[in-house]
Amino acid sequence: MGDRPVLCSIREHTAGRSRAAPRRGARSGILAWVVVYQIYPRSFADADGDGIGDLAGISAHLDHLRWLGVDALWMSPIHPSPMADGGYDVADYRGVDPAFGAVADVERLAAAAREHGIDLLLDIVPCHTSIEHAWFRERPELYVWSPVDGPPNNWRGAFGGPAWSRDPHGRGWYLHSFYPEQPDLDWRSPKVAQELAGVLAFWRGKGVAGFRLDALQQLLKDPELRDDPPAVSPSIMAGHPGHEALEHRFSSDQPGVGQALAALREGAGDGAFLVGEIGLPSDRHRPYLEHLDASFCFELFFAAWEAEALEEAITAGLATGKAAWVLSNHDFPRLADRIGRANVAAAALLLLALPGPAFLFQGDELALGNGPGRPPGGPEHPPYDRAGRDPFRHPMPWTEDHPHHGFTTGVPWLEVTSAPEGSVELQRATPGSPARLVRDLIALRRKLSGPVEALAARGGVLSFRRGPHVVAVNTVREARPAPTPGEVVFATARRSNGHIPGQGASVTRTV
Ligand code: GLC
Repeated sequence: MGDRPVLCSIREHTAGRSRAAPRRGARSGILAWVVVYQIYPRSFADADGDGIGDLAGISAHLDHLRWLGVDALWMSPIHPSPMADGGYDVADYRGVDPAFGAVADVERLAAAAREHGIDLLLDIVPCHTSIEHAWFRERPELYVWSPVDGPPNNWRGAFGGPAWSRDPHGRGWYLHSFYPEQPDLDWRSPKVAQELAGVLAFWRGKGVAGFRLDALQQLLKDPELRDDPPAVSPSIMAGHPGHEALEHRFSSDQPGVGQALAALREGAGDGAFLVGEIGLPSDRHRPYLEHLDASFCFELFFAAWEAEALEEAITAGLATGKAAWVLSNHDFPRLADRIGRANVAAAALLLLALPGPAFLFQGDELALGNGPGRPPGGPEHPPYDRAGRDPFRHPMPWTEDHPHHGFTTGVPWLEVTSAPEGSVELQRATPGSPARLVRDLIALRRKLSGPVEALAARGGVLSFRRGPHVVAVNTVREARPAPTPGEVVFATARRSNGHIPGQGASVTRTV
């Protein structure tokens, strides 16, 4: 990939902000401490009172991202969509859903974000379109079709049911790795690569700095369409039980993916940051990473909150040399519900002390938990998610105002629930709040340099060294002795007698 600069504007603005940028090669140096904030646009902030978050709402809240000190924001899809899959069913890659705004609003947002020193990343879904995309009606050759009149094999969709459905236009059976409303594009067709590369180039032209690329393991399938064998072990990203019953040996992750990604890299052009969502163990990311800057380490995302499990997960991510660290997103239960509220501060410290891009999901900084999801007795159809992910997608609580916490002046599409520690407004003003902690950790991150060394798990404590700093995370309820003596630079809870409190974490500096 050469020495392509990445996240150019980040480099420029950090020069002005006197951050302690690492002195190594610009590219790897920047990626070592970049923090990306994920926005789920429908649920971030509503500027026009229709109850749905929008681009103008994001623009109006950039000060919060600047206050946190993040370097980039990634928006889940904003394209026109029937919302069968929360926007991951795209009906026009070059458009913006009117509920969110217009293309000009993306340009405005990119420019405004850059003024705050923040780069804008879009989410691109290359595996499939919406069944309502004009291509599906007009250019069927871009999609994957069964050679027989019915499903040609046993492949299952990630959300359950067969991965093949009958075409409503009577042209046979098409493949869908996810919902039936999401027909898979045929990445063996050069036309598909050309179209999607053009999409990335289009958005770069609007001021977008890079892309999160969705579900890359699903780009290529076995050309012989062989049956998937029964699963012998669980997959890294647990899906529907019917899907999990099979090992996705032929329905995903096939040789040749490099060619597809090379096309996307070319379309994205110089300086673009590309992070891949690859639903595979990290040791299978290599062919993808030849063309990407980073890939999410899902081992850490799903690791049990135990020192040994965390050590193993971090080791797996580090081995790729390009891990992006993430502990929560719009697809899975909120961190506070998965690992327990008492561990959230230590988790933030761990996430932000690792070298490599770190991703925060909106509301993580508030220690927001799961919400109730769609209204009881309400419809099960779009925009509500049939796979049950609405509880992780509740709108942001901005203020203490009731009933909707400043998210909207109208009726929110999903109830606005606040965190036990309060809204953005309250937490920003409260010393010791989760939001203040995340902000302080982002600032501290700039001072940590060097690779992870001496990674170890002992007596429930995970520890590692980065240069002169030692990071220690106590995963058990009881206080534990710190791994090495040193001056405390940061602690999630007060240490006493050289002990880290139960479920606490600290960064020390060797003296
Ligand atoms: C990714 C997205 C998820 C979506 C799926 C299919 O995993 O994160 O929300 O349902 O891809 O596009």
